[in-house]
Amino acid sequence: MKEKIRIEGGLELQGSVRTEGAKNACLPIMAAALLCEGQVVLNDIPALNDVMFMCSVLTSLGAQVEYLPAEKRLIIDSTRLTSTEAPYSLIRKMRASFLVIGPLLAREGKARVSLPGGCAIGIRPIDLHLKGLKAMGAEVVIGHGYIETVTDRLRGERVYLDFPSVGATENIMMAGALAEGATVIENAAEEPEVVDLARFINAMGGRVVGAGTDTIRIHGVSRLSSTEYTVIPDRIEAGTFMVAAAITGGEITVENVIPTHIVPLIAKLKEAGCDVIEEESLIHIRRNGQIRAVDIKTLPYPGFPTDLQSQMMVLLTLARGTSVISETVFENRFMHIDELRRMGAQIKIEGHTAVVTGREKIFGAPVKATDLRAGAALVLAGLAAQGRTEVDCIHHIDRGYLNFTEKLAALGAKISRSE
Ligand code: EPZ
Repeated sequence: MKEKIRIEGGLELQGSVRTEGAKNACLPIMAAALLCEGQVVLNDIPALNDVMFMCSVLTSLGAQVEYLPAEKRLIIDSTRLTSTEAPYSLIRKMRASFLVIGPLLAREGKARVSLPGGCAIGIRPIDLHLKGLKAMGAEVVIGHGYIETVTDRLRGERVYLDFPSVGATENIMMAGALAEGATVIENAAEEPEVVDLARFINAMGGRVVGAGTDTIRIHGVSRLSSTEYTVIPDRIEAGTFMVAAAITGGEITVENVIPTHIVPLIAKLKEAGCDVIEEESLIHIRRNGQIRAVDIKTLPYPGFPTDLQSQMMVLLTLARGTSVISETVFENRFMHIDELRRMGAQIKIEGHTAVVTGREKIFGAPVKATDLRAGAALVLAGLAAQGRTEVDCIHHIDRGYLNFTEKLAALGAKISRSE
């Protein structure tokens, strides 16, 4: 039975909300657990659909996986792996499962992984992942929708990434962790989740330096050992709630957040007319009068994150003035625009740029989520719209937001899920 989210808009949000551990740190770190011939204990792991799915991928490879929901603790024991194949049935449901190819090659010397399909937001190629693995000595054969890779021993190499791909940086870093010699990734992704993965690998006894800069050096070691690790907070979930406060005109506190991880969003919300106060691990945000139009350009970290583009666009549909939003990271991340137009938003698309003409109001309507962040953005639109909004295809939202409706309801939103 398909569930929908129903929202009666127009209520201001008040109160505080705690964000979970970062989905996009959990997924690569869970893949990196395959590098360890022993048990790792991961803390602050949210029971997201994508996280539970990655557990099933690891289990299919022979790892022992146990999730303790009350403690949000995940225990993974990869001492003995029984398979090096990640079938299409798994990969097509979640692209991030492609992150097992680097660790499997490093640990077992081979991997048979389905080519990940494209997805709603873009064709999502993996050429840079394969460029790195080939450079490190893996033979790669592609056929029948699968990638077959084999190597006697990965050796460290210098790899230049044509685009600072998060996934490619992570796969190459994990492969390099057990390779012979040093691997250098140039034009590497600098996202905080990449840094968290490096810290986790080092906690297992690895030697990764430079994560967070555009040049990462990984000195291969012979084996990695057990450790316990707590993942960083989810900067995108935190940002989503901050925009929710700005859209509804409320005032909230977001707890368990690292303010330096969302500098671009804080800057843009201040430019748009919000008061934002940052503390060590929390942020207070309050809308201060009418929202002003601002321009947004998504870029790899430390630029404005593409994962907050749709949420910011919803805010700007209600700004005074015209905003220009450029999406430079993915080629098709404007699907939420058609849905927002159904709510009365005035948005013109010109290639990778959207021109948003602010309006006084938007109006509740039945809409559907097309991807994870677009779905969250439509919920935010419903919070501000006049009348009732119903969001369909909310399985997209459950991939990356834990208890999203409950958290918003606790902040005062009139929101519920129902069949
Ligand atoms: C990660 O995806 C995130 N997912 C995405 O979050 C996020 O939007 C993206 O990074 C950018 O920040 C996870 O971490 C699990 P990329 P990833 O490789 O690694 C091109 C969400 O909502 N590219 O940095 O797939 C690609 O086409 C998700 O949580 C190549 O050309 O992103 C894209 O245009 C959505 N060749 C750009 O790089 C390659 O080999 C960014 O992709 C790889 C990527």
